[in-house]
Amino acid sequence: MSYGKRIDLLCSLFAPTDVFADVGCDHGYCSEYMLKNGLCEKAILSDVSKGSLQKAATLLRWYVENGRAECVLGDGFAGVEKDVGEVVIAGMGGAEIIKILSDKRHGFVPKRFVLQPMLNTDKLRRWLVENGGYIERDFTFFADGKYYDVIVGRRAQGGERQTYDELAFEFGKENLTVRGEDFLARVRKLLTDTERFLAAENLSAASREELLARKKRLEEVLKNDGKGILRST
Ligand SMILES: C[S@@+](CC[C@H](N)C(=O)[O-])C[C@H]1O[C@@H](n2cnc3c(N)ncnc32)[C@H](O)[C@@H]1O
Repeated sequence: MSYGKRIDLLCSLFAPTDVFADVGCDHGYCSEYMLKNGLCEKAILSDVSKGSLQKAATLLRWYVENGRAECVLGDGFAGVEKDVGEVVIAGMGGAEIIKILSDKRHGFVPKRFVLQPMLNTDKLRRWLVENGGYIERDFTFFADGKYYDVIVGRRAQGGERQTYDELAFEFGKENLTVRGEDFLARVRKLLTDTERFLAAENLSAASREELLARKKRLEEVLKNDGKGILRST
């Protein structure tokens, strides 16, 4: 069964677990995939929107009735225990994901997570590295006419902390080392867009400076000979 390229790719990154949490579940497809494929004993689905949660409850009615799925109306991790095995938070902004993870009442860095922010991936990488997350995979993919970023990781153990430089926060370490086709195509597109903005009339000095700096960073990523441009590990 296919849910479309984006959701299929996210599902391929999930690991088997006892309890799976699908935060901001909307339709509930990620949980359905886990349950139908025997990859979790139980799924907890949460959403702030009653209408969205209802879609998931309808899709997973059999599992809800048999105690294998629980639908929680609430913000972020409300109703999700800290020892949940695997968490997906996908399809919302990076700032919203940070808000959920850092929430004073319910927030935590999950034991294992798959995060797919729509914006501000750089900020999310930084927050994770600085707040007890450990990023294992972090790449860009093209699906259904758009570029997406996905971050797979886990709770850091025993004080371990990754070293990221500014370029790695901006583009992702895996993208910079593996240099997948989708990532490079996105960088080329960003460079073309940046050059087009630079050609605009009436650009303020500050905007021009910012665009020139971005152009330089994008060119630095593209000019690499394929060995990767990471300066730190
Ligand atoms: C665009 S949908 C994405 C659904 C699904 N996760 C996916 O990737 O296809 C975003 C969902 O997140 C929910 N949402 C946004 N902020 C939330 C929050 N703080 N806590 C729980 N759900 C949230 C929205 O109501 C919406 O149903």
